[in-house]
Amino acid sequence: MPTVGIVGAGQLARMMHQAAVALGVDTAVLANAADESAARVASGVELGSPDDLDALRRLARRSDVVTFDHELVEPAHLAALESEGHVLRPGPATLEIAVNKLEQRRRFAAAGLPLPGWAEARTTGEVRDFAASNGWPVVIKAARGGYDGRGVWVCRDETEVATVPRLGDGGRFIVEAFVTIDQELAVNVARSANGETRVYPVVDSLQRAGVCNEVVAPSRQPEAIQRQALHIGFAVSQLVGGAGNLAIELFVSDGRVLINEIAARPHNSGHFSIEGCVTSQFENHLRGVLGWPLGDTRLVAPAAVMVNVFGHTSSPRPELNLPEAVAVEGAHLHWYGKTSRPGRKLGHVTTLGADPDSALATAREAAAILDPGVREAR
Ligand SMILES: Nc1ncnc2c1ncn2[C@@H]1O[C@H](COP(=O)(O)OP(=O)(O)OP(=O)(O)O)[C@@H](O)[C@H]1O
Ligand SMILES: [Mg+2]
Repeated sequence: MPTVGIVGAGQLARMMHQAAVALGVDTAVLANAADESAARVASGVELGSPDDLDALRRLARRSDVVTFDHELVEPAHLAALESEGHVLRPGPATLEIAVNKLEQRRRFAAAGLPLPGWAEARTTGEVRDFAASNGWPVVIKAARGGYDGRGVWVCRDETEVATVPRLGDGGRFIVEAFVTIDQELAVNVARSANGETRVYPVVDSLQRAGVCNEVVAPSRQPEAIQRQALHIGFAVSQLVGGAGNLAIELFVSDGRVLINEIAARPHNSGHFSIEGCVTSQFENHLRGVLGWPLGDTRLVAPAAVMVNVFGHTSSPRPELNLPEAVAVEGAHLHWYGKTSRPGRKLGHVTTLGADPDSALATAREAAAILDPGVREAR
């Protein structure tokens, strides 16, 4: 049976491993430390940094195909691995787009895809010029390296722009018009190296403080909006290529769908698919990178919802509450085996139901037992 090597050992790698078990596929993860989420469960573990080419080589040598739990890997290292004959899926060309918000904006604009107003900005002056024609507030984003809202700054005026670290100091940024968002959506598209493509239902992604917090499948947006989202999802998937799962984050604003950003890996907006769809995003990611046929992406219930569990200051040992949380009937709990820190993603709860509201009530009830922030947000 093949071994899939995974660069990174967070919860995405952990849930890939869970899907690999069912397929009889082995996994090997590249972890910084032996107690990382996926290093605790994978079939094999290489300890080392994703910045270290030798560590990447050790992983690649024991793998039939190498895939990714995050895209923060030096492009030159990926090119080196490929030139040495290792199979990377997605490959360096796809990852270079996924890791770089500026590159995404350029490619998508060139293809005529709908985006918020944007420009490259390296200095406060360039941000000021953009705001002069687009108005305040603006959103400044680090081209690379951001996640969970880190690397994104909403600025109402020039004094706030001055607080953005590394702007004007060699860092690469984009500046965007602040979009009035009616709803955030996501589309997940699975591609196999055998050429097949399948798309998951469009979902509503509910953010809290710039971070995905809840997901509702299927989206409650009108059909015309969902059609636009699917159309954009397919177009982006064609454009960036690669294999495995591709997530496209979207904004609905004033009846239009705009692209926010993409991720070339399984994504938080697709976790609901573990119980909610015939084939999960993690299984299809593995099938895709292995060049196997993809599985059915349809929902198995009228609604599937997911609520994230974050670390919270008032609950330093949330794992002690796991027995109480699993007692909530109908709540499917996924615990990532990570040490709690405020704001850290520790797990999620998925619930299926006849309608989103009843499913959300159950999922929130279970999630609130682990994360007091779920109740505070209501
Ligand atoms: N142009 C914009 N106008 C208004 N809000 C925005 C804009 N760009 C981003 N946001 C808000 O900030 C959130 C985070 O932005 P983005 O997805 O670019 O950051 P990230 O840190 O890479 O994301 P993630 O949380 O998905 O890892 C978005 O989900 C959205 O809520
Ligand atoms: Mg995002």
